[in-house]
Amino acid sequence: EDQDEFFRVSTGKLPDLELVRDIVNQAYERFADDRTGAVADYIPALARVSPDLFGISVVGVGGSDVGVGDCDHMFSIQSISKPFVFALVCEAVGAEGARARIGVNATGLPFNSVMGIELNADRTMNPMVNAGAIATTSCVPGKTAEEKFRFIQEGLSRFAGRQLEVDEEVYTSEAATNLRNRGIAKLLEGYDRMYWDALEATDIYTRQCSLNVTAKDLAVMGATLAGGGVNPITHERVIDTRNCRRVLAALATAGLYEQSGDWLFEVGLPGKSGVSGGIITIAPGKGAVSVFSPRLDEAGNSIKGQLISKYLSERLGLNLF
Ligand code: DON
Repeated sequence: EDQDEFFRVSTGKLPDLELVRDIVNQAYERFADDRTGAVADYIPALARVSPDLFGISVVGVGGSDVGVGDCDHMFSIQSISKPFVFALVCEAVGAEGARARIGVNATGLPFNSVMGIELNADRTMNPMVNAGAIATTSCVPGKTAEEKFRFIQEGLSRFAGRQLEVDEEVYTSEAATNLRNRGIAKLLEGYDRMYWDALEATDIYTRQCSLNVTAKDLAVMGATLAGGGVNPITHERVIDTRNCRRVLAALATAGLYEQSGDWLFEVGLPGKSGVSGGIITIAPGKGAVSVFSPRLDEAGNSIKGQLISKYLSERLGLNLF
């Protein structure tokens, strides 16, 4: 459906809070009854989630905050951890260093593609697909796996402005079934594109994907990237402004995997999805939108998440172009 007639021209800021609240409520009402798509089932613990949980959160770079529905429900962050760990690695080794180790090009292939490793000369592809994300995790500072995981947990907690904890049930369930990711990491090791023990790096990556967040947390994390690296709630600088724009560029290129082009065409903003049903959209200089709805499409992206992101991008005047 073409919603273009409702679009608002970008003013460089979010609209007034009352208008944001009205538009977010309209978005919620409009899509609440959509029952298309199904929860992820390749990770057993995710298959048990109630499919009709649904929340929207919008956080502005100045700390304004609008939420509706299940925006305080906890779910595992999954692939939405990838841009934030990439941001931390850019801080640790420099954005150019991160690009040299991982790459930043689109692949047009699914998130867990093995064929992509064979087809792309740099093997790791980009930090948003599993190959590049596990390689990114392998670059995290720390002398032991435990230290590396703490670095990620503390770093993502600074983005969220509160201490994030692992969902042990999701972690155990994914750790028991992540053979494909272990295979990807071993294959990359064979190509000299892993920077820590391949199986330990996969385990740290699995833990990072199991960190619990709410839609509100994700909106705060996204708004930190939108605000040049400063958390809008705690006012703490989490990453350097120069690294922020690199992370957002990588998201615009590959945040929605093989659907990244369609996403950019329709939403016009960097975004990132996860198989637990979260999706964030970052409007640089303005804030971030996050949606939680676990019914997914074939590519593993939240269906309502995509519809709401497009709706809010148009009506809140967020599109970059
Ligand atoms: O590695 C995996 O398969 C999961 N931990 C994360 C995948 C994911 O979230 C893909 N996103 N849409």
